[in-house]
Amino acid sequence: MSKRKTKFVCQECGYETPRWMGKCPGCNNWNSLVEEVEMTGKSKHRHTFSTGTTVRKPEKITAIESEKEPRITTKMKEFNRVLGGGVVPGSLVLIGGDPGIGKSTLLLQISSLLADKQLPVLYISGEESTRQTKLRADRLSIKSDLLFVLSETNLFDIVKQIETLKPSLVVVDSIQTIFREEVTSAPGSVSQVRECTGELMRVAKTYNIPIFIVGHVTKEGAIAGPRMLEHMVDTVLYFEGERHHTYRILRSVKNRFGSTNEMGIFEMKEEGLKEVMNPSEIFLEERSEGAAGSTVVASMEGTRPVLVEIQALISPSSFGNPRRMGTGIDHNRIPLLMAVLEKRVGLMLQNQDAYVKVAGGVKLDEPAIDLAVSISIASSFRNQPTRPEDIFIGEVGLTGEVRRVSRIEQRVQEAAKLGFKRVICPRRNLDGWKVPQTIQVIGVDSVQEAMDFGLAR
Ligand code: TYD
Ligand code: MG
Repeated sequence: MSKRKTKFVCQECGYETPRWMGKCPGCNNWNSLVEEVEMTGKSKHRHTFSTGTTVRKPEKITAIESEKEPRITTKMKEFNRVLGGGVVPGSLVLIGGDPGIGKSTLLLQISSLLADKQLPVLYISGEESTRQTKLRADRLSIKSDLLFVLSETNLFDIVKQIETLKPSLVVVDSIQTIFREEVTSAPGSVSQVRECTGELMRVAKTYNIPIFIVGHVTKEGAIAGPRMLEHMVDTVLYFEGERHHTYRILRSVKNRFGSTNEMGIFEMKEEGLKEVMNPSEIFLEERSEGAAGSTVVASMEGTRPVLVEIQALISPSSFGNPRRMGTGIDHNRIPLLMAVLEKRVGLMLQNQDAYVKVAGGVKLDEPAIDLAVSISIASSFRNQPTRPEDIFIGEVGLTGEVRRVSRIEQRVQEAAKLGFKRVICPRRNLDGWKVPQTIQVIGVDSVQEAMDFGLAR
């Protein structure tokens, strides 16, 4: 008989302690420790399937053959790119996102695309009955013979089905609904999520089957369950977008098989998700040309440049503390750039409210957008529009200098492709690349200089 031992596990960070405490020493959250029964004795080592027992020996790194990761590609190029070129066999991929954003839809569509390539796919839903999944499939006009659906929450049975079917891809729709019998805590708790993920990882690696798991997102926007979950899997994707926009962005935040910060853009239509191949056009679609406070920046999202409009509204504040608000941009940058404009350019901004917004619901977090934000603010403040065919690129330093950015050539090419006529960018970026013929590139050293070019009439 194995002894029953209990422990207290923090539901936020996974910290474990033998005694209860009000405040978690790991993450300083209050009241987050929950009692869970520890698996002891034999049950801890009970595997639901056989693992390889051969002992591995260290190898010389030069003696290891380097083969390229084989990839399973889907017809959705946006999806392939976010994964770094397709699905890697044996990888465990976690997809997080707000409820209703379209995770199940996306994964069902991907499943059917692979099934249409004669690759059997097993779609396991712990949240919906097979009938509900079928309804969704009808809506998406899915008629794939090799797409198998299973409504199951017991991990033991799930693994058994994977072992018999040996599919080319497995989707587990929401890790929070799956449970292991040996773990006594409720589905969705830290230990269940951890144990189930661990088991799925072993299955993925043993049979070389890629597994996609859906993870719910907490109010704060992180994937529910311990941070550890993100460390355990090979790839973490977030599916995001504003509820009121039809655009959805799939973003990779961790990828053992590709670069991170890669972004794929989709549009949610009546008949499912459609990929958006030319994001710049979409982000600039509703642009109000010639309005004060609007500029366009060429920002890198992973390996791809996207052109996005940045809007600023500066208006006198009526209360003591002027407001500084940002949407889609790190809001700490706004007071900083305004201070630079005040001190180095002499704009009197301290008694002004500032609202800065990245249009289209995208989030930009690279410093290369600094110059465009600064020019937007200055343009709104002076009520003087920028020229609609200008693009601004550059990081702004505290002395008002414009600093060089990465991948200037790609950014400028994208701007030229969309018909922009002038790029105002850091002077230090000017050398060593070929400028497209249709566009003029102006190098500047300071924000003041950029304003002279960009705002002068
Ligand atoms: P869903 O994939 O169920 O979201 P999640 O799994 O992330 O919770 O998406 C549900 C939303 O998507 C729902 O509001 C309806 C909408 N939708 C469409 O607009 N078109 C479609 O073809 C489908 C299947 C869903
Ligand atoms: Mg769902």
